[in-house]
Amino acid sequence: MNETINLLKNHRSYRDFDENYVIPDEELQEILDASRQAPSWMNGQMYSIIVIRDKKIREQLVAWNPGNYHMLKSSVFLLFVADLKRTQQVAEKYQVDYPVDEGLNPLIIATTDANLAMQNAIVASESLGLGIVPVGSVRNHIEEISELLNLPDYVYPVSGLSIGKPLVDMQVKPRLPQATVVHYDTYQPYDEQLIEDYEKTMVKFAEARETKTWTKKFADYFGTKPAENVDRYLRKQKLIK
Ligand SMILES: Cc1cc2nc3c(=O)[nH]c(=O)nc-3n(C[C@H](O)[C@H](O)[C@H](O)COP(=O)(O)O)c2cc1C
Repeated sequence: MNETINLLKNHRSYRDFDENYVIPDEELQEILDASRQAPSWMNGQMYSIIVIRDKKIREQLVAWNPGNYHMLKSSVFLLFVADLKRTQQVAEKYQVDYPVDEGLNPLIIATTDANLAMQNAIVASESLGLGIVPVGSVRNHIEEISELLNLPDYVYPVSGLSIGKPLVDMQVKPRLPQATVVHYDTYQPYDEQLIEDYEKTMVKFAEARETKTWTKKFADYFGTKPAENVDRYLRKQKLIK
């Protein structure tokens, strides 16, 4: 196994960081350079990265989202936003319409670009011996965060990323069996038994922060209407009708 594959197969999210650890500027720069080299749709690079080191801003993020206290304790917090603003300025320059709110594909494009950039930042951070945790729950306060960070129209937060020096080591978390996730040539229905097996594996893994089994967690999550604040925000940002 080569070093890169070994790194990827040993990924873990870390949430407890040494709050006194300062990432050297050169390392942060390496992470940002690696992140920006991610592939993107049509080379559009439809994302931006907000590098948040300011304690006051991070305290506010944690006040809104106390479960993700690492947004303050990590060495740096990156917010990956999907960014359809630059291309809106291009439309203005050419004096053409910009009907991005008339379909969902632009959102898929920009969200994908932002996530690929984040994944590159994750791999780069881990290769430097740092730990990370993505923070999708920044969208719980999407409107407030957007105002705090002056996000313009056509921009929306996709995920945050806490990066820092982990305080404790963590076991690699088991994944779903390959047969439930990987399909050859055509999509194949998976055997329910495999999900039950995974459920048992995860119970045995006994991650303290997991209070529900895997199936119950998603029955509950998707059994509830999606939060309206995200739709409301995307409408305000001129991204959906
Ligand atoms: C898009 C995305 C958003 C996430 N949001 C959060 C979050 O808000 N808070 C958190 O503690 N973990 C978050 N995570 C981390 C996942 O819980 C974690 O990746 C998953 O449980 C698998 O564990 P592992 O990364 O340690 O292997 C997020 C992960 C992804 C990919």
